[in-house]
Amino acid sequence: MSGPYLHGHHASVLRSHSWRTVENSCPHVIPYLSDASITILDIGCGPGTITVDLASRVPQGSVLAIDPSADVIEKARKHAEEKGITNVRFEVGDVFEWQKLEGVKEGAFDIVHAHQVLQHLQDPLGALKAMKRLTKPGGIVAIRDVDFANTNWYPELPGLRKWLDLYLAVARSLGCDPTIGKKLHAVAMDAGFARADIEASIGTWLFSTPDERAFWCGLWADRTTQSDFRDRVLESGLATEKDLQEISATWRELEQKGDGWLSVLHGQVICYVKP
Ligand SMILES: C[S@@+](CC[C@H](N)C(=O)[O-])C[C@H]1O[C@@H](n2cnc3c(N)ncnc32)[C@H](O)[C@@H]1O
Repeated sequence: MSGPYLHGHHASVLRSHSWRTVENSCPHVIPYLSDASITILDIGCGPGTITVDLASRVPQGSVLAIDPSADVIEKARKHAEEKGITNVRFEVGDVFEWQKLEGVKEGAFDIVHAHQVLQHLQDPLGALKAMKRLTKPGGIVAIRDVDFANTNWYPELPGLRKWLDLYLAVARSLGCDPTIGKKLHAVAMDAGFARADIEASIGTWLFSTPDERAFWCGLWADRTTQSDFRDRVLESGLATEKDLQEISATWRELEQKGDGWLSVLHGQVICYVKP
């Protein structure tokens, strides 16, 4: 089951996605890339910067990446072209409809990967079960997702507390779980993985230097007032345009604070598919 993607693909959203690399967004996968001839499936690839980085690390292998947004898939293809990476294929596709995709078969991939996708799905368990089916015996399912409730910042700014409460409420109103990062191992167990076959870890993003704050706070200031997130908030009735303007101004305030600091916590799992 696939609902609307909360953020959409406004420029303020893509600014965040396009900054992502293997190093900053899936370091838990790096130890599994030593065989350069493996096959990888990247689910919900967005504009594909993580995907292309993965492909560059397995030059004798191949990467297939899917996302339901045709616009973002076009951007991902362009990114691969600009980087000169040719062992990657981007296709419009939905994890719940993988049977429709050419070259996607049960047990076909050494690594099935998803970064920040399960938090946006109404049926994360169904997605994880599909990812398990698509993985070769002896391969891995690798997932990383946010626990938004564990977002932390300094100094304390009431507007950011308001942002976090609103974000959690809107995501939940769409039937999604914005705290799924801390439950990935539990979802994997529900999908049939034994606890002993799941390696759980955490990964963080920190935005503290002036440049880092300008990047993160700036994109959230814009996202709050311009992206699909704004529209979803207004549709839900959980906040008004005025509330959103205030939240956006608080993001700008954190950006301007010389001692400002904000961290984003992710849960990460590597799930081993038994040979
Ligand atoms: C937060 S973005 C993450 C993009 C990318 N993985 C990254 O981290 O840069 C979530 C992506 O999941 C995609 N998505 C939403 N529902 C999906 C589904 N049912 N199957 C596959 N991808 C989906 C969205 O279109 C969006 O591009």
